[in-house]
Amino acid sequence: MIKKVNHIAVVVPDLDASMRFWVEGLGLTFAYKEHVASQGVDVAFLTVGESKIELLQPTDNESGVARYLEKKGSGMHHICFEVDNIEAALARLKAAEVQLINATPVFGSDGRKFAFIHPKSANGVLVELYELVAAKNAAT
Ligand code: CO
Repeated sequence: MIKKVNHIAVVVPDLDASMRFWVEGLGLTFAYKEHVASQGVDVAFLTVGESKIELLQPTDNESGVARYLEKKGSGMHHICFEVDNIEAALARLKAAEVQLINATPVFGSDGRKFAFIHPKSANGVLVELYELVAAKNAAT
């Protein structure tokens, strides 16, 4: 069901400033940046082998990520697992009485599907499930 860790997300107040550590210091490869209007964030992805680090900077003071930054400061925000069938994964979690933030998958602009599991059911960790639909049948 779970294929791998797709990414680990870190909340930062300033994407460009945070690159000094992650890219210049640690030597991770910058992949791309995007604005995700629905979540009120700018996002930068850095490549780490088959996984990624997702840096999140709030662009909207009302967003969940902005509230997180205000309350807790910079830090680890969520871990994302890649699954081959997100509907099946959610059904299995529901059957196990795991509390979900998204009971049904949310569709991203690029065809990916994702859903969040509530930290209350995951030892305090916000967990994202992610199904990369476009690559489903690719030989990766
Ligand atoms: Co994420």
